Amino acid sequence: MSSKVRIAIIGAGLVSDFHHVPGIRLDSRCELAAVCDPNEALLEQRKKEWGPAKYTTDYEKIAADRDIDAVIIATPNFTHKDIALACIEGGQHVVAEKPLGVSFEEARQMYVAARDKGVRHMTAFTYRFAPSMRYLRHLLKSGGLGEPRHFRSQRFLDLPETSWGWRQYKKLAGAGDLYDMTIHRIDFAQDLCGPIESVCGAVKTFVPRDKTADGKPCAPSEVDDWSALIGTFKSGAVGVWEGSTLMKGHHNNGVGFEWAEINGTEGSAVYQLVDPNYILVGRHGGSLEKSLVPAEFLKPADSPRNPADGKPSTVFRYDLMWEFVSAIVEGRDAVPGFDDGASAQAVADAVLQSYAERRWVDVPQSF
Ligand SMILES: NC(=O)c1ccc[n+]([C@@H]2O[C@H](COP(=O)([O-])OP(=O)(O)OC[C@H]3O[C@@H](n4cnc5c(N)ncnc54)[C@H](O)[C@@H]3O)[C@@H](O)[C@H]2O)c1
Repeated sequence: MSSKVRIAIIGAGLVSDFHHVPGIRLDSRCELAAVCDPNEALLEQRKKEWGPAKYTTDYEKIAADRDIDAVIIATPNFTHKDIALACIEGGQHVVAEKPLGVSFEEARQMYVAARDKGVRHMTAFTYRFAPSMRYLRHLLKSGGLGEPRHFRSQRFLDLPETSWGWRQYKKLAGAGDLYDMTIHRIDFAQDLCGPIESVCGAVKTFVPRDKTADGKPCAPSEVDDWSALIGTFKSGAVGVWEGSTLMKGHHNNGVGFEWAEINGTEGSAVYQLVDPNYILVGRHGGSLEKSLVPAEFLKPADSPRNPADGKPSTVFRYDLMWEFVSAIVEGRDAVPGFDDGASAQAVADAVLQSYAERRWVDVPQSF
C-alpha cells in the first residue's frame, strides 16, 4: 500500500457528494484516487467538483486496479452485491451503502466473501456516528440507564409524492422506507440492545409515484412509504419502530423528524437528529432534561474534524470515513461491518415476511 489509503468511489451520486467526499477530504491518511459512474455527464461534473483522480464508467476497471486500496460503493441497491464481490475478489477493502443488497441473502453473501478474503468491510450506517447516539450508547453500556427494557424509534420525512426513480422498484431497491430509513434504526437498536430475535411488522404504499418531479409519466411505485415493527430482543428488551416519508409538516428544512429512545430500569435517554449535539436524559420520578453531549463524544478520538464546523445534523456523517480508514491503517475490523449490515437486513426481511403472512417471524441469527 502507498503511504496514503487510495480510495475509489463507485457511484458518484448524491450520497457520495454529501457524505463520502467530505469525509475523505478531512482525512490526511487517505486520498480520492478514482471515481466510477456510468453517467458520463455526471462524471464530467464530478471531475470539475472533485478534482484530479482516475475517472471511469466501468467498475471492473476499479476492481482490477492494483493502485486502489479501498472502495466506497454508493450505487443503486441492486448493484451493490456484484460490485462488492468483484472488489473483494481484487483484495480491496470495501464500504457499501445500506441496504447492503436487495435481500438478506445478498447481504449475507457480501459478508461471507469479505470475511473469507480478509478485507476490511463496512456498512454505511451513518447514524451510529451522531454525537448523541454515541453518548447514549456510552450511558447505556456503562450502566447509567440500568438494564434496557424498551427501545423506541420514529423517523418521519415530508418528501414530495413524485417518482423516487430506481428507489421505487422492488428489483432495483428491494424495499422502500423500510430499506431506506428504518434499516438504520434497526441497526442502531441492535448496537444498543443486542440482537433482535423476533418481529411483527407492517408496510404500506400510499402513493402511486407515477410521475416524475417534472411531470413525466413513469411506472408506479412498488415499494412501501411507511414501515413499522414491534420486536423482541434476545436480551428480553422490546422495541417499537415507525418510519414514513409522507409526514406532512415534518419537513424541517429537509432534516425531518427523528426520535430514538431507550428506557432502562434506572433512566431514559433520547437521541434526536435535529439536535444531535444534545441529549435528553430522565430519571425515575423526574423529567427528561436536555444537556450538551460531552466533548469526547462529539467525534471519534484523534479525528481532525472540528465539531463546531458545519451543520450538526450533517457533519457527523464524515466520521464514517474516519472509522473506515482507521480500521485499514490499524489492521482491525471496521464498525459497523457487513455482518451488521446483513443482520439488519435479516430483520428487515423478517418484517416483510411477517406482514405478508400476518404473523410474528423469528429472525435468522447465524450466517
Ligand atoms: N447512509 C446513508 O445515510 C445514505 C443516504 C443516502 C443514500 N444512501 C444509499 O446510497 C446508495 C446511493 O444512493 P444515492 O442517493 O447516492 O443515489 P443516486 O441515484 O444519487 O446515485 C447513485 C449513482 O450510482 C451510479 N451507478 C449506477 N450503476 C452503477 C454502476 N454499475 N457502477 C457505478 N456507478 C453506478 C448512478 O449513475 C448514480 O450516479 C443507495 O444504496 C442508498 O440507499 C445511504
